[in-house]
Amino acid sequence: MLRENLPDLADLDLGAAVAEKAVAVRQLLRDVARDYAPVVFANSLGAEDMVLTDMIWGEGLGIGIFSLDTGRLPAETYELMAKTERRYGRRLEVFAPRHDTVQDFVAGHGINGFYDAVEARKACCHVRKIEPLQRALAGKQAWITGLRAAQSPTRDKLKTVAFDHANNLVKISPLADWSEREVWVYLRANNVPYNALHDRNFPSIGCAPCTRAIQPGEDVRAGRWWWETPETKECGLHLVDCKLQRIAGQKVGADDTAAA
Ligand code: ADX
Ligand code: SF4
Repeated sequence: MLRENLPDLADLDLGAAVAEKAVAVRQLLRDVARDYAPVVFANSLGAEDMVLTDMIWGEGLGIGIFSLDTGRLPAETYELMAKTERRYGRRLEVFAPRHDTVQDFVAGHGINGFYDAVEARKACCHVRKIEPLQRALAGKQAWITGLRAAQSPTRDKLKTVAFDHANNLVKISPLADWSEREVWVYLRANNVPYNALHDRNFPSIGCAPCTRAIQPGEDVRAGRWWWETPETKECGLHLVDCKLQRIAGQKVGADDTAAA
């Protein structure tokens, strides 16, 4: 979030609204831990994910937390991983890419070959993110993400609970209806650690070579794969195919397919 847009903690109405939404998310997480075990949370250490980390580790919920270490993350993200582990006294489960497929990619495309063509970029994302994600999700009933509908037009149909056909398990996005401002109200009110890059106009953070700061007025994901057109800006982690799901006794409908 840009510095000038940071929420005012003295805004009591906003603070109360976020506290109320947080109660609902904690309840959802408790329900998910009970109904979908084993369930894991995919933690990129972004602002949204720090809200969920604080709720899951802060409450000692039975939800595993993992991160995909692509090998190309910014130094600030590794620093935040270590800081988060110290703060909560827990260890993140870190999944690394297979060394042989990374070596094959680099041999074929060059060390920064992802800049040369969309296909090469997607191949790099596959090797460094998608294949490790598949290992992280193996044997799980559900996974939790920090996706928000407002993050991009490709995510605007995001549902809190949906069936992820690509990975064949339930996908839960507890912050689907949160605004960026609400995320920051929660982080500040609860003194949650966050990535230092957020203070340098990086609202959305991925791998270092594929993420840059945004300018005022640009959308929050404008700094991701900025050299590509919006339609290709997919790493493939979030191909969402929503189906009707039942959770915690409540029917949640989702009727469309969105790629995010
Ligand atoms: S991406 O598809 O463009 O990379 P984004 O950075 O917006 O995704 O993150 C959306 C969600 O995907 C995060 O809230 C998190 O749940 C998951 N995610 C993204 N990157 C990682 C990562 N490196 N490790 C674990 N989860 C991740
Ligand atoms: Fe490779 Fe960039 Fe994708 Fe990271 S975001 S896996 S460096 S192409």
